[in-house]
Amino acid sequence: MRRITVLGVGYVGLVTGACFADLGNQVICLDVIPEKIEKLKRGELPIYEPGLEEMVQRNAAAGRLAFTTSYAEAIPNAEFIFVAVGTPSGVDGEADLKYIRSAVENIAAHLTNYTIIVNRSTVPVGTGDSTAQTLIERGKKQGIDFQVVSNPEFTREGSAIYDFLNPDRVVLGSVDPKAAEAVADLYRVFTKNLMITDLRTAEMIKYASNAFLAMKISFINEIASICEKLGADVQQVAAGMGQDQRIGAAFLNAGLGFGGSCFPKDVKALTYMAEVNGLHPQLLRAVMDINRDQRRRVIVHLRQSLGTLRGKTVGLLGLAFKPNTDDIREAAAIDLAHMLSTEGAHLRAYDPVAMENAHRILDGVTFCSDAYQVAAGADAVILVTEWNEFKQLDMPRLFNSMRRKVFLDGRNVYDPLEMQAHGFEYRGVGRPLNAPNGELVRAPEREAMPVA
Ligand SMILES: NC(=O)c1ccc[n+]([C@@H]2O[C@H](COP(=O)([O-])OP(=O)(O)OC[C@H]3O[C@@H](n4cnc5c(N)ncnc54)[C@H](O)[C@@H]3O)[C@@H](O)[C@H]2O)c1
Repeated sequence: MRRITVLGVGYVGLVTGACFADLGNQVICLDVIPEKIEKLKRGELPIYEPGLEEMVQRNAAAGRLAFTTSYAEAIPNAEFIFVAVGTPSGVDGEADLKYIRSAVENIAAHLTNYTIIVNRSTVPVGTGDSTAQTLIERGKKQGIDFQVVSNPEFTREGSAIYDFLNPDRVVLGSVDPKAAEAVADLYRVFTKNLMITDLRTAEMIKYASNAFLAMKISFINEIASICEKLGADVQQVAAGMGQDQRIGAAFLNAGLGFGGSCFPKDVKALTYMAEVNGLHPQLLRAVMDINRDQRRRVIVHLRQSLGTLRGKTVGLLGLAFKPNTDDIREAAAIDLAHMLSTEGAHLRAYDPVAMENAHRILDGVTFCSDAYQVAAGADAVILVTEWNEFKQLDMPRLFNSMRRKVFLDGRNVYDPLEMQAHGFEYRGVGRPLNAPNGELVRAPEREAMPVA
């Protein structure tokens, strides 16, 4: 049993705290937002993550998991402090480290015994070193009062608990291998695959991993656009590619592009790090450009089907950036909502869990209680987030309630032939269109991409 403090009760911090408590450790989670801590003390979660509420309640009841806003309470007794605060994008794409800096200053102000500071947030290469430097400037001695370990987070929202407890690998970077080993001991109960490296390499492994996955998505989206022109089906292309073990099937789903709190900001931050060091990261820039274009194509396709979008009603099925989360940061739906509003369209939307978050940032959208209400009177419906409940819709019911019958399947969930048989003017991403006689027809020529 170790004494662990976690800073930040977001998607990463809360899962980290709950899972370590579940393994028998004594955990206290601190956040600077009192409402979040009050909720947690009542057994309510400030975020949606499958399985997390039960785990938090169970460990809190067992006295292994507590919540506070007080650094004076959370820091002095800790053996390990996991930093899991946000690192959003700054103005030029660089990671904004204001929350990290504030956390480090507060740690410095309350540190009493030797403590290992474990950075779980995604931070620019060199942040571990600057954390140590700040603590030294505040009179703390490295190796005696503290040590810094980088321990990047690789879990996925929606399956974060499973991923935390079944990691492909745990990466630990430090100038002091003994400190890294001490953190490794926390993980040894559930994994043997521990990689110990230096601080900067550990920080870079996180960015390189996310940039690579984002690149796979943009790659298959570019292939999808070429497929549309040439009459090939990207779904089958990806399946054929993915069976090659050198390529792998994951992250080869053509669609509306990636979103969420990690890929866009991490690709931008890595691009920024490269640029300020005099490099020309053209592949990283292309990854972001292709991702933006995937959203813009929707507008082009809708204009092809409906003419002007002014006054037209467009329904969005799904608002979260992916299924099984309420996270809407950089979600395709949010980008589409802004673009469609600019075009003068009326918007209707529904998501099983992300409505509350979306409500806070989207104006002028009619929020509905299910997919059928979204479709009622709509000229077009776009499947944006592939929630399970959208996979078995009563398509005749949806079809009959729509004004125009345009259906854009942004995640290639439906069978094009079946959708056409229902009567929809259906369009997937990178899939050939079929004429009513089953003959393959090419997608119509595109008009120029709208500028954001
Ligand atoms: N969300 C993911 O799936 C994921 C996956 C891997 C890595 N990451 C990285 O982990 C970090 C956290 O991400 P997240 O999605 O959990 O963020 P989040 O925004 O959901 O949560 C961050 C929390 O930190 C709190 N906070 C801010 N300043 C603080 C301070 N000084 N002390 C204590 N708490 C403070 C905020 O109030 C917030 O509750 C980011 O660097 C992110 O890039 C996230």
